[in-house]
Amino acid sequence: MLRGGRELWMAFLAGILITGLYAAVAFFTRKIPAAGELFGHALGIFGFILMLMTEVLYSLRKRTRSAHWGRMSGWLQFHIFTGLVGPFMVLLHTSWKFNGLAGATTLLTLIIVVSGFIGRYIYTRIPRTLDGLEIEGTLSEAALRQARRLMALWHTIHIPIGMALFISAFVHVGAALYYATLLK
Ligand code: HEM
Ligand code: HEM
Repeated sequence: MLRGGRELWMAFLAGILITGLYAAVAFFTRKIPAAGELFGHALGIFGFILMLMTEVLYSLRKRTRSAHWGRMSGWLQFHIFTGLVGPFMVLLHTSWKFNGLAGATTLLTLIIVVSGFIGRYIYTRIPRTLDGLEIEGTLSEAALRQARRLMALWHTIHIPIGMALFISAFVHVGAALYYATLLK
C-alpha cells in the first residue's frame, strides 16, 4: 500500500547507494564526474531509462483493464520508485551545470518530481482497493468529491509537464550525442 511509504524508503536507500558510488568515483578520479564521460554518461542514460519507464509502464497497466499482471498499487509504487531514482541519477549526471536546454530539462524534471509528491498526497486521501479502485471509506461525500476534483485538476497539470519534459530531454539527447559524442 502507498500509505506505508515503502517505495519512498526503497528510493531513499537506492539514493544512498548511488550517492556512495558517485562519491567513490569522484574521490578516486579527484574530480566531479563529467556528464559526457563514462560514469556521468552512464548515470544519464540509466536515469533516463528509469524516467521513461516511469512515464510509460504505469499508464500502460492502468489503461489495460483486461490485463492482470500485478496489482495497480504495486505498479504505482514502482512508478514512484523509478520516478525518484531516475531523476536523482539524472541530477548526478548533470555535473552540476545547468546551461541552456539541458538545464531547462533538469528544471522540468524537478517540477515533475515535486508535482508527483503532491499527486501522491491527493491520491492517498481517497480510499481505494489494492487495484486502485475507489471504495467507500472514511471520507464524507463532499470531501470525496473535492479530492476527486483536485486529482483530476492535478492530472491536467502533471501530464503535460511530463510531455514537455520528454520532448526537451529527447532534443538534449540528440544534441548531446551529435555535438559531444559524434563530433569528438
Ligand atoms: C532527463 C534526462 C536528462 C537531463 C535532465 C540531462 C541534463 C544534462 C545537463 C544539465 C547537462 C550539463 C549541460 C551543461 O554543461 O551545462 C548534460 C550534459 C550531457 N548530457 Fe544529459 N541529461 C539527460 C539525459 C541524457 C542522456 C540520456 C544522455 C545520453 C544519451 C545525455 C548525454 C549528455 C552528454 C553527452 C552531456 C555532455 C555534453 C557536453 O559535454 O557538452 N544526457 N545533461
Ligand atoms: C520522472 C518522473 C515522473 C514522471 C515522468 C511521471 C509521470 C506520470 C504520468 C504520465 C502519470 C499519469 C498516469 C496516468 O494516469 O495514466 C502519473 C501519475 C501519477 N504519478 Fe507520476 N511521474 C513521475 C514521478 C512521480 C513521483 C516522484 C511520484 C510520487 C512521489 C508520482 C506520483 C504519481 C501519482 C500519485 C500518480 C497518479 C496515479 C493515478 O491517478 O492513477 N509520480 N505520473
